[in-house]
Amino acid sequence: MSLFDQGPTMSLEEFRLLRELVNDTCGIRFEEDAMYAMERRLRDRLRVLGLTSFRAYYQRLRYHPDGRAELENAVDVLTTNETYFFREAYQLDAFQRAILPELKERNAVSKRLTVWSAGCSTGEEVYTIAMILLESGLFRGWDLRVFGSDISRRVVQHARRGVYGESSFRAMQSRYERYFRPTPKGQMVASEVKAICHFGQLNLLDRERSALIGSADVIFCRNVLIYFDDLTRERVVQTFHDRLAQGGYLLLGHSESLLHRATGFEIVHLDRDIVYRRPIRRTLFDEETS
Ligand SMILES: C[S@@+](CC[C@H](N)C(=O)[O-])C[C@H]1O[C@@H](n2cnc3c(N)ncnc32)[C@H](O)[C@@H]1O
Repeated sequence: MSLFDQGPTMSLEEFRLLRELVNDTCGIRFEEDAMYAMERRLRDRLRVLGLTSFRAYYQRLRYHPDGRAELENAVDVLTTNETYFFREAYQLDAFQRAILPELKERNAVSKRLTVWSAGCSTGEEVYTIAMILLESGLFRGWDLRVFGSDISRRVVQHARRGVYGESSFRAMQSRYERYFRPTPKGQMVASEVKAICHFGQLNLLDRERSALIGSADVIFCRNVLIYFDDLTRERVVQTFHDRLAQGGYLLLGHSESLLHRATGFEIVHLDRDIVYRRPIRRTLFDEETS
């Protein structure tokens, strides 16, 4: 092996086999121009397993007794986990100003609020939502739950630890700094915030396990659908519809839109954002009295 030998190279056929397997597993779509990126990201797994070709790696994933566990490792390295606190602040403002007061009224009797961040990566989005809920002062004495889920075990473990380096704070607003404590490894989320956050590993393609979330008032799924093929996107949006309470909101990333798709959601124009709402089903009685 020469100094410049980087390990096995991936053929187009190997790429196509692997991308189909990854797509079936988690819905992520790799175009052909992503072949070198996939090669680079998976090479380390070949080295760890002592394999000399991507075909052998594919065989391992498909047929080896440990294939499923290795598929988790492959997904871990192939997912894009970029995230930070207070990402897409205009949308968080809309959430705070328009959606939270409405939910406070709607849930006034149960005094319970559930928010799900689907595809939460290392957890910054989940803790951001929790800080907004606490800082709003609207829900004192309520049963607040913010669920964060991701397919990657590695990022979920990071999220549970809740300790972050500088790059996570690039859009941080100073009034929220009091929700962090310094530690030798970075800033740790304060226990009052952690207390309402719960993390789990969940593949969004798995509808049965998604049902464990129960009924959510708001679902954030930002910068996740862009990686999926059309069919997966439709399936996942349907899962969100099923998981939302009537009148519940779905908030997507700024480059993701349901505008030209047939879905069961209604479009709601907020001050600076478009969001999606599961319609409230009117009963026969409502129709008689309206
Ligand atoms: C770019 S991050 C988005 C993080 C955060 N929502 C944000 O906007 O900052 C995308 C996340 O989606 C997760 N993901 C991709 N496919 C998934 C799937 N099938 N099920 C659950 N999570 C998935 C990835 O592991 C990754 O952490």
